[in-house]
Amino acid sequence: MKQPKAAENILETKVTPEEQSLFVSLRASTWPEFAGQENVKRALHIAIAAAKKRKEALGHILLYGPPGLGKTTLAHLIGKELDVHVRVTSGPAIERAGDLAAILTNLEPNDILFIDEIHRLNKVVEETLYPAMEDYALDIVLGKGPAARTLRLDLPQFTIIGATTRVGLLSSPMRDRFGLITRLSFYEPEQIEEILDRAAKKLSVELDAKARHELAKRSRGTPRIALRLLKRVRDVAQIEGNGVIDEPILHHSLALFEVDSMGLDNSDRRLLTLLIDKYAGGPVGIETMAAALSEDIGTVEEVLEPYLMQIGFLKRTPRGRSATAAAFSHLGKTPTKKQQEELF
Ligand SMILES: Nc1ncnc2c1ncn2[C@@H]1O[C@H](COP(=O)(O)OP(=O)(O)OP(=O)(O)O)[C@@H](O)[C@H]1O
Ligand SMILES: [Mg+2]
Repeated sequence: MKQPKAAENILETKVTPEEQSLFVSLRASTWPEFAGQENVKRALHIAIAAAKKRKEALGHILLYGPPGLGKTTLAHLIGKELDVHVRVTSGPAIERAGDLAAILTNLEPNDILFIDEIHRLNKVVEETLYPAMEDYALDIVLGKGPAARTLRLDLPQFTIIGATTRVGLLSSPMRDRFGLITRLSFYEPEQIEEILDRAAKKLSVELDAKARHELAKRSRGTPRIALRLLKRVRDVAQIEGNGVIDEPILHHSLALFEVDSMGLDNSDRRLLTLLIDKYAGGPVGIETMAAALSEDIGTVEEVLEPYLMQIGFLKRTPRGRSATAAAFSHLGKTPTKKQQEELF
């Protein structure tokens, strides 16, 4: 089976520098530009208003949910509204307690420290972060052995905005230190249309209404994927068409990228095909499935499964993953009688 190159994979969570500059240029820079996620926005607005009223730093916030839904954008919007700096880092980037101390001691009052992939902080750093989050203080150990002593360093008030795709991997002491924990969910196609419309205007590409509607349906409810597809379809439209994105160009492009009518790509279809053909539709354990796909469990759980479950193609059961009737039918497979009885 033909495997897409990483850069071509629409689900890729690593963003190339070229794409990154596109996403930054298309980043929603005001609240009205940030479509959807009404519950999240409401909760944030209350927290922001309260902090402003008390003239204190905003309480720590944890944003979680599948990749590409706008966690980073939200952190920047919050920073802009509070008129404070947003310092961006990630769990794996902070290797030692000293790295964290360097970052925290450089913050100005009320600044935001955005920690992406916060579930990947190592234990030592995490434990250094606790007093910092709670008391705005750092406990630094000086020296070694019997002569070692602890120095407490006061920090300005600041806000941590943590982001994670895997909230289940966060330790409970860590979770407990966030005053607001809020989940981002997949967007409705209408909201994705709104995002696409704005992006097309910014990119000066004509995207007709039918094409926009269809593209939104195939973007897995994920702004990052919608924008990535828009950019790639624009290329096709410019090279092979007259620059306008209409339905024929869209269909041609999506066929080229191997994105199907439900917005599934090769990796999704490979997962479902494996589940149906090799494991009789399931249930099969996540480890077995990830190994058979040569993917890591994290990718399967965070990137592939949430959308397949959302559209009702996959079920998580205590005994493992199973395909649904809709998945069989989408792939043009006919379940046996036994499968019908056991799976659906
Ligand atoms: N609700 C939204 N409305 C408008 N644009 C959005 C929205 N969410 C995301 N975007 C756009 O999608 C692109 C990618 O978003 P962003 O960089 O925030 O996501 P991300 O950080 O990759 O996602 P996450 O952190 O959730 O994995 C940006 O250009 C951003 O402006
Ligand atoms: Mg991000």
